[in-house]
Amino acid sequence: MPITINNREIEAPLDPRVSLLDLLREHLHLSGTKKGCNQGACGACTVLVDGQRILSCLTLAVQFEGCSVTTIEGLSQDGALHPLQQAFIEHDGFQCGYCTPGQICSAIGMAAEIERGLPSAVTADLAAEHIDFSHDEMRERMSGNLCRCGAHNGIVDAIAATFAPKPAFAEAAE
Ligand code: FES
Ligand code: FES
Repeated sequence: MPITINNREIEAPLDPRVSLLDLLREHLHLSGTKKGCNQGACGACTVLVDGQRILSCLTLAVQFEGCSVTTIEGLSQDGALHPLQQAFIEHDGFQCGYCTPGQICSAIGMAAEIERGLPSAVTADLAAEHIDFSHDEMRERMSGNLCRCGAHNGIVDAIAATFAPKPAFAEAAE
């Protein structure tokens, strides 16, 4: 069964040891997804699988037969940047840019997790049906994506500008 990558069907690699990250970078030359640590510690390799964020360095490509993978190259629509990509530019959310594709894919998955009501380590009420998109929730949920350049303030601003309900977020961050 093929793997759909950025709306294109790809045959799974014959070698079952190939990670999803290596399939993307080495086989398909989709080099937007970055290899930082290759051991699940930095978040640079984050992509979306059926809308959920995963670390592509820790997974085997063959696991995703029949799934839909979206990388940073697949986020733009009709030549227009995804709103979060645009926000990263407007809020100085990067310096060298190495962590940026992973930050952006991770943040899109993170916003969907909050929307679905999945709790994090800082969610006070685990039974709550609605989780506020707060400053603390965002920082906790994005803590797996490291930025060696220290662009975290711009990253947080870009994510908040894209996904957070403005008045509620502003009050919570004060
Ligand atoms: S390269 Fe996958 S988490 Fe660092
Ligand atoms: S912008 Fe350089 S590592 Fe994040």
